[in-house]
Amino acid sequence: MSNPKRSKIIAGNWKMHKNRSEAKALAEAIGHGVKGEKDLPIVVLFPPFTSLAAVGDVLRDTPVDLGAQNMDHHDGGAYTGEVSPTMLIDLGVEYILIGHSERRQFFGETNASVNLKLKAALKHALKPIVCVGESLDERENNLTDAVVRRQVGAALADLEVEELKTLIVAYEPVWAIGTGKTCEAAEANRVCALIRATINDCFRSDESTQIGDSIPILYGGSVKPSTIDEQLQQSDLDGALVGGASLTAEDFLPLIKSAQKRIRSLISV
Ligand code: 13P
Repeated sequence: MSNPKRSKIIAGNWKMHKNRSEAKALAEAIGHGVKGEKDLPIVVLFPPFTSLAAVGDVLRDTPVDLGAQNMDHHDGGAYTGEVSPTMLIDLGVEYILIGHSERRQFFGETNASVNLKLKAALKHALKPIVCVGESLDERENNLTDAVVRRQVGAALADLEVEELKTLIVAYEPVWAIGTGKTCEAAEANRVCALIRATINDCFRSDESTQIGDSIPILYGGSVKPSTIDEQLQQSDLDGALVGGASLTAEDFLPLIKSAQKRIRSLISV
């Protein structure tokens, strides 16, 4: 059964979409849609950097939190074009995406840079969502488990259990992102369980901890209102990291409602 103690999370990654006025309008519609609601999941919006301040203003009196899609791991300095953790915090950012597959694929991010960014996020008390997932080629060559294990292990290198209280992981198979092809719910759940076990393995020497059991693990990849209910029924899947379906309130609000329904069903058990 799903662990009711783990937070349920619906996160919207807007990627490189929405100018400032569009972003404000979407944040307003989402904020309005959840106003006064109880038993909500954690809801986080990840607008582009250029709209963080505007969206942050809109979300201030709502239960919806603000996240950023990327950051540099340095505190500051001569790093043209980059944005530091403290700059994000200054804008009211609470969550940070780390190692999204598009960053790995198009912007040269590696398991090593993911580790540096995770350490920087934890140092500055930004809540990290570390993204992992295999490519189509890797899946077809039966490398899914090895790739995911390696990505998780490398992300957590040199970290202590006590530092991971705010960690969130997102399993996003690259072949399911933006393709309309959702990973079958049972298979997504299997990989989420593998991620949990891998996190526990990383800290095996500390027998008192089963930290992996308390970390929320999200699924991402063509999540939409028609897929979310089955996904949220899975024992090891605690929410969704959503791209395309986070770009309109009509698609995104039903995802939040589904998580709310799931939370209520877990409370009543
Ligand atoms: P889609 O929901 O558009 O497949 O994107 C998923 C994703 O990459 C979220 O980070």
